[in-house]
Amino acid sequence: MKRVGFVGWRGMVGSVLMQRMLEERDFDFIDEPVFFTTSQAGQAGPDIGKSIPTLKDATDIEELKQMDAIISCQGGDYTKAVFPKLREAGWKGYWIDAASSLRMDDEALIILDPVNRDVIDKGLANGVKNFIGGNCTVSLMLMGLGGLFKAGHVEWLTSMTYQAASGGGARHMRELIAQMGMVHQSVADQLDPSSAILDVDRRVAETIRSNDMPVDNFGVPLAGSLIPWIDVALENGQSKEEWKGFSETNKILGRSSSPIPIDGTCVRIGAMRCHSQAFTIKLKQDIPMDEIESMLAEANDWVKVIPNERDVTMRELTPAKVTGTLSVPVGRLRKMNLGPQYLNAFSVGDQLLWGAAEPLRRMLRILLE
Ligand code: HSE
Repeated sequence: MKRVGFVGWRGMVGSVLMQRMLEERDFDFIDEPVFFTTSQAGQAGPDIGKSIPTLKDATDIEELKQMDAIISCQGGDYTKAVFPKLREAGWKGYWIDAASSLRMDDEALIILDPVNRDVIDKGLANGVKNFIGGNCTVSLMLMGLGGLFKAGHVEWLTSMTYQAASGGGARHMRELIAQMGMVHQSVADQLDPSSAILDVDRRVAETIRSNDMPVDNFGVPLAGSLIPWIDVALENGQSKEEWKGFSETNKILGRSSSPIPIDGTCVRIGAMRCHSQAFTIKLKQDIPMDEIESMLAEANDWVKVIPNERDVTMRELTPAKVTGTLSVPVGRLRKMNLGPQYLNAFSVGDQLLWGAAEPLRRMLRILLE
């Protein structure tokens, strides 16, 4: 692959992508990496250990057309503005995108190669050129539970999510920290063991509800609270984030024509960049726990089955442990009181890695192979 263009490499997902590409020496496989910008054309590009041209204008269709592949972390508005023009201009290259705009398009595949390499390979053979990263919650669910899906054991499932601030963006992460700081500040002089805890609690509640809390991005306080709604409302009562669980999962698995029912409630919590999910999985039959655990553990190199024991769960199955890593632990595995076909599970994963940047760089590597 000669020329690969990068757009949106400086934002949060783009920066994680760059970091991972440098770690994996992906640039060694690209003859000519070309970096684009929406505001700084002509300036020097990033240091990637080899010489690159100065930054090019990310809206210049003629420049973009020179690329064999383009990887964009610039966001949905950019995709909507530029991608159709590029195709109309006759561009036949590969488009790899982190934004959701093209995900459900018939001419696009959702990429998560440890789970759907077969779908990707078939798509490539059939001339598919648009490869889009999935919703973070969906990708992390499939990285964790892939073994059960692959074996065809899932009749339906619910996913109740605990989604981190980073899913909203960098500004949301800063706002969460500012909110946490404000809560602490309001009672910092009252935290000795002898303080009256109900007074402390009242001050905290007053602070959280006060107009001083920074809420420009979340709209309401998240620190010391949670937000049981993510993304816009659909007419059926779901949030769009909840809708994606069903539609994207089935598209990734290549079974949109005979979909597995999936639903749940998506909730924003005060974690930084790890999304967690609690699952109720209805299995097609009663399968012994040891078989379920092996199936899950063997599905890919990153999933890690955590025994359903208190100490190891508290150490290993948390955002604090997983953040910044590619590991996707799955635990709390047990049959539920509902019956032997009902499996309980809980997973944690970094939404900027497997949830965003990693499937993109791996798709590029597939094209470069
Ligand atoms: N929509 C996700 C969230 C992140 O808000 O957490 C992007 O996949």
